[in-house]
Amino acid sequence: MMKQWRRPTPCRTIAGAILAGSLALAAGTALAQERDITAEQFEKFRMMMEEANTAELFEARGEDLWKARRGPKNASLEQCDLGLGPGVLKGAYVQSPRYYPDVGKVMDIERRIAHCMVTLQGFKPEDLSKQPFSNAKSTPELVSLTTYVAGHSRGMKIAVPQSHPEERETYKLGEAVFYHRAGPWDLSCASCHGEDGKRIRTQNLPNFTRPGNADRGFIGWPGYRMTGGLMHTLQWRMNDCFRQQRFPEPGYLSDTVTALLAYMGVNANGSTYRGPGIKR
Ligand code: HEC
Repeated sequence: MMKQWRRPTPCRTIAGAILAGSLALAAGTALAQERDITAEQFEKFRMMMEEANTAELFEARGEDLWKARRGPKNASLEQCDLGLGPGVLKGAYVQSPRYYPDVGKVMDIERRIAHCMVTLQGFKPEDLSKQPFSNAKSTPELVSLTTYVAGHSRGMKIAVPQSHPEERETYKLGEAVFYHRAGPWDLSCASCHGEDGKRIRTQNLPNFTRPGNADRGFIGWPGYRMTGGLMHTLQWRMNDCFRQQRFPEPGYLSDTVTALLAYMGVNANGSTYRGPGIKR
């Protein structure tokens, strides 16, 4: 069963708006200019907000959680191995998803942190997926923890590994998911993110397939979203895009999401990660 839409937008409006976006582009400069102004204003606002650095609040909360002895095993996460050795945080975010020999699987960073909460602290996976995304009442611990870990990669180059065969397989799977069209509107990720100049209402839809632009799917996440004033990770973004696509929402921390994050991460390789940011 698909969950109910959180926003009361009729499907037709969204599909119509994408179409209108493409038509507007064809119609010429007046509308194109309007779009640029919206994007430019948002860009200014984002820079102001990032100077104030709202995301740091969540990094600070994540740090407390990382170091506290918690869970049934009364342990901290300080020995968590994010792929670069126990307790090494620097660079871990920009080098994930990656293959973890101890589980024989590729995991994205949020999934790996969850894995440490289960193995080191004794939390149950069900507890972690009870409320996976931020809402008006609370921000899940995993969101703050992921933001804390991400902060340690600020200013570093994105370098999602592809040396292990499983990592290359995961990338290929992610690519296949990205282009797979299905659902009531026959949409794929690429329908919205595979061409320049598309938008829904005032939101520009980044084209992740254009070289030099693919890092839009990585940079700025985890992000404090001004719409709703909530901190979100890429797990949430993927879920919300599956919803946009009229697909059933994937399970929290699923293989499908890891594969998409690997695909987008590898395509973003070489760009500089600015750290947790601000999103519209
Ligand atoms: C119906 C259109 C639609 C489809 C299909 C769609 N998305 Fe999105 N996507 C959006 C919208 C709208 C946004 C928000 C743009 C904004 O806030 O400026 C977005 C944002 C994103 C972002 C964040 C971009 C940024 O600037 O930070 C990522 C990453 C993303 N989508 C990935 C995907 C993936 C992967 C899929 C396929 C599973 C997908 N999207 C399918 C509409 C769509």
